[in-house]
Amino acid sequence: MIEQRIKAAIRDIPDFPKPGIIFKDITPILKDHELCMAITDAFIGQLKGIRIDAVAGIESRGFLFGLTLANKLGVPFVPVRKAGKLPYAVKQKVYDLEYGTATIELHTDAFEPGSRVLIHDDLLATGGTVTAASELIQEMGGIVAGYTFVVGLSFLNGKEKIAPVSDNIIVLAEY
Ligand code: PRP
Ligand code: MG
Repeated sequence: MIEQRIKAAIRDIPDFPKPGIIFKDITPILKDHELCMAITDAFIGQLKGIRIDAVAGIESRGFLFGLTLANKLGVPFVPVRKAGKLPYAVKQKVYDLEYGTATIELHTDAFEPGSRVLIHDDLLATGGTVTAASELIQEMGGIVAGYTFVVGLSFLNGKEKIAPVSDNIIVLAEY
């Protein structure tokens, strides 16, 4: 089972990046090319029947499997980046964090209006990041086709937050 393989590879790092947080370190997964391919294949299998025109990967860890997934689906990959990183014309979205705000951006030509965009990130926690990405995509005329995550922290209720946008939510390993 893919879930067991992912969980066996993930390393828990206590008190990173702040005291009290147990960080789910996915870097051991990246050293295992067979597991990386199995993760991509699991996403592809579970996305069957869903029309996807582009994959939007969230900086930075959403780039890792986002590009592979887009390549395997045969659709464009578009990076959602933190402010000031994308070189061409951008559209941005400011969203609230626990303390302060953050800004994400997409290139204005990332996709055509009416495109069905799959949002990919490595991990779903509160869902704040992908909610901001969803709003940005919708403001640019896109349709959120669904979400894929390698890991989900179900006790933070991220799925409940994003389900009203799309209930195509794929989480391979749930904690
Ligand atoms: C982490 C993770 C997700 C996000 C999940 O990224 O990779 O992108 O937080 O949190 P949320 O569901 O509560 O929004 P982080 O901001 O640590 O940046 P990184 O991917 O660049 O390491
Ligand atoms: Mg991230």
